[in-house]
Amino acid sequence: MEGVIDAVTRDLLTRTPGFDWTVTEFVRVVDARLPPRVYYKHCPELLERPVATPSGIPVQLQLLGSDPATLAANARQALCLGAIGIDLNFGCPAKLVNRHDGGASLLRTPHRVEAAVAAVHDAVGDAIPVTAKIRLGFADRRQAVACARAAEAGGAAQLVVHGRTRDEGYRPPAHWEWIGRIRRQLRIPVVANGDIWTLEDYWKARTLSGCRDVMLGRGALADPWLAPRIRHWLSTGERLPDTTWQARAATLTAYAATQREKLQDRVVVSLIKQWLNQMRNRDAEAQRRFQRLKRITDLDRLLAELHDDRETPQARQAQGEPA
Ligand SMILES: Cc1cc2nc3c(=O)[nH]c(=O)nc-3n(C[C@H](O)[C@H](O)[C@H](O)COP(=O)(O)O)c2cc1C
Repeated sequence: MEGVIDAVTRDLLTRTPGFDWTVTEFVRVVDARLPPRVYYKHCPELLERPVATPSGIPVQLQLLGSDPATLAANARQALCLGAIGIDLNFGCPAKLVNRHDGGASLLRTPHRVEAAVAAVHDAVGDAIPVTAKIRLGFADRRQAVACARAAEAGGAAQLVVHGRTRDEGYRPPAHWEWIGRIRRQLRIPVVANGDIWTLEDYWKARTLSGCRDVMLGRGALADPWLAPRIRHWLSTGERLPDTTWQARAATLTAYAATQREKLQDRVVVSLIKQWLNQMRNRDAEAQRRFQRLKRITDLDRLLAELHDDRETPQARQAQGEPA
C-alpha cells in the first residue's frame, strides 16, 4: 500500500505466520524504463534470494501504468532484477493518478486492461506470473465482469478484486457478492479484497464471494495479528485473544527502530502516527493513545508514551477509573 506498507512493514507483518504472499507499493510507470534504484527502493527484497520478507514470505512487485509498451519495458527490467511476480494495479483511485491515465482510470475501457496485461505477459513470458488488481469499475459496476475478463484474456494468472468502484473510494461496504459474480465468470483464481477487519469479516467475505483467498489491506495495519488470527482459526478452529495494546506498542516500537536507521526522527514520528491512526479506528486503547500522542513531535517521547503503563486499561481500573 503506497506510503503505508513498505519493506519494514512487510517484515513486521509477516513475522508471525499468516500471510502467503505480499505485494509492494506500486511503482509508477509513465513513459520510460525506470532505473534499478527505483525498483530497489520499492522492493529492497529484490536484493535477497529468494525475493521474500526475512521470514520467507514472497514479495511481488506492483506496477501502475497505462502504456503497454512502457509497462512491458519495466516488467522486463523488474524480471532482470529478479522479480518473482508482476502485479498490475488497475485499482488506484487517486485523482492525480487517474488524471494521468493510471490505476482505476483504465477500468473505463476494458480492452486497455487487456492490452496492458498482455504486453506485460508477453514481456516476461512464462518466467514469472503476471497478476492484476481491479475494482468493480470506475463510476459504476457495469463493466466489472468485462474488466475481469479482460485481465484474464490478457494472461493474468490471478485477479484480486477490491469490491468497490473507483467512485466509491474506501466507503463501506465492500460488495463481496459482486466479487462472487466475477469469480463465477473466470477460470483464474479470484482473490477477494476490501473491508476485511476481523475474523468475522474474513469469513463473510469468503462466503459471499466464494473466494478461497482474500487480500488484507488496512485491516492488517489496524490489527497486525489479523492474518495470524485467520490462519490460526483455519487450522485449529480456535480464536486467538484480541491483540493487546502492549503487542501493538511493541510493533510500533520495532517499526520506529528500523525506520530510524535511515529516516529523520520527524519523519518516523509521522509514520508512527499514521500507523496508530489505522489502529485507532478499530481499537479503543489505540484511540486513547492517539489522542494523547498526536501532538508529540519528539520521537523518544512518543516511544516512551507508547509504553507508559499508567495508561493501560488495567492501570485505569486499578485507579478506579473506567477501563
Ligand atoms: C493509503 C493506501 C494506499 C494504497 N496503496 C495501494 C497500492 O499501492 N497498490 C494497491 O494495489 N492497492 C493499494 N491500496 C488499496 C488496498 O490495497 C486495498 O485494495 C483497499 O484499501 C481495500 O482493502 P482494505 O479495505 O482491506 O484496506 C491502498 C490503500 C490505501 C488506503
